[in-house]
Amino acid sequence: MSKTLAVLASGRGSNFQAILREIEAGKLDAEIRLLLSDRAEAPALEMAREHGIDARALPYDRQDRSLFEQAAAQAIEESGCQWIVLAGFMRILTPEFIERFPGRILNIHPSLLPAFKGLKPQQQALDAGVKFSGCTVHLVIPDLDAGPILEQAVVPVYDADDEESLSARILEQEHRLYAEAIRNLPDS
Ligand code: GRF
Repeated sequence: MSKTLAVLASGRGSNFQAILREIEAGKLDAEIRLLLSDRAEAPALEMAREHGIDARALPYDRQDRSLFEQAAAQAIEESGCQWIVLAGFMRILTPEFIERFPGRILNIHPSLLPAFKGLKPQQQALDAGVKFSGCTVHLVIPDLDAGPILEQAVVPVYDADDEESLSARILEQEHRLYAEAIRNLPDS
């Protein structure tokens, strides 16, 4: 049975695109039914529309996150999607939203969690002088970047790396790992 996905994205959407490519190549038995964004100018929206996916920008108010979250939760429930995939979604979800979909929200983070949670994890890795970093797909719980780990990939960190070169090396693995994690999810 195909896995049904609702994707939340804020920006360029390269992880979303990588998942979509795997589906369209017949390598991932899943269907993206919905793409939601907190930013009307997110390139991911246009990309989704070009592929016939229901793509919506929902207004985001930092003072009242429940406006976005209520609309998002309603759209997701109406779509009947089984899984919510955060793909470069740059907002922190409230515990109320997360608890509405327990064990059904996935995130990808560009570090080997539990190391380097939060913002700029690639720069955090460089600052710490680690020799390896990578990316993690995990289930989302109310504590930030702390949910059960589903998959990880490791990349080397070189002396000559800066944030950009390390981010690019990790991103290449993210694109492979996210589809792999979705493939390995249980069917129900
Ligand atoms: C990725 O590095 C992801 O791990 C992080 O934000 C970036 C989003 O990239 N959370 P994209 O929008 O999927 O291209």
